[in-house]
Amino acid sequence: MPALPIPELKSIVLIPAAGSGRRMGAATSKQYLQLLGKPLLAHTIALFDQHPLVEAIYPIVLADDREYCQREILDRYQFKCVRRLIAGGKERQDSVRNGLAALIEDGYDQPRRPVLIHDGARPLFNADLLAALMDSIDTSGACIIAVPAKDTIKQVIQGQIVSSPPRDQLWQAQTPQGFHFDILNKAVHQQISSAVPATDDAAMVAAAGYPVQVLAGEDRNIKITTPGDLLIATALLDSYKEKSA
Ligand code: C5P
Repeated sequence: MPALPIPELKSIVLIPAAGSGRRMGAATSKQYLQLLGKPLLAHTIALFDQHPLVEAIYPIVLADDREYCQREILDRYQFKCVRRLIAGGKERQDSVRNGLAALIEDGYDQPRRPVLIHDGARPLFNADLLAALMDSIDTSGACIIAVPAKDTIKQVIQGQIVSSPPRDQLWQAQTPQGFHFDILNKAVHQQISSAVPATDDAAMVAAAGYPVQVLAGEDRNIKITTPGDLLIATALLDSYKEKSA
């Protein structure tokens, strides 16, 4: 495959990790649970730190967790690209909005600046896909990583199936999701007036009228949500570690 062109502007990565993690049912916030002796969030930041297409990283955490995260993650692992911690908001979209405000303050608000948003709870993204993702953002302004649905998906209301959309048109959205700064900024501000919170950034961008491209990712890029996911992620991380050893 020919090498992809180097984009004019490197990406800024926002890592929302300010969720409550209720579905994990653990006493510690899930982003700080240990995976092979390292906190989950540290694995996720490491995917992007020192990547040649990344300029800066902003983890977004609960306001009350900032001191803990600074001490247990940033001071301990000394990442090169992390600029500073941002306080999250009530909904995921509020956390992303706080991240965008920091980019404006720090001068990363060029209209075509690629902004990647990656869930703190996805430590298994294959960063080899970043070059293709950045290339698509460069030409289209908006692109996300997703995988085709393997199961048949049902829309269920009050315990009853109301529709069975054709499986070959269904994809599961993952992250990173990347957008030119101006597109994301407009979409995030338009979302403020919507009554329904967006569960991902592509939904906000599409609702604002921008087409969003999809780049096929990998099943390994799971979002750690339940205790079972933690076991799977540990096994996967362990197997990749063995392969690269
Ligand atoms: O809730 P969900 O699993 O969709 O969250 C995806 C990511 O967004 C997680 O990494 C979570 O910590 C983050 N999040 C956030 N602020 C919120 C809610 C979720 O940063 N208010």
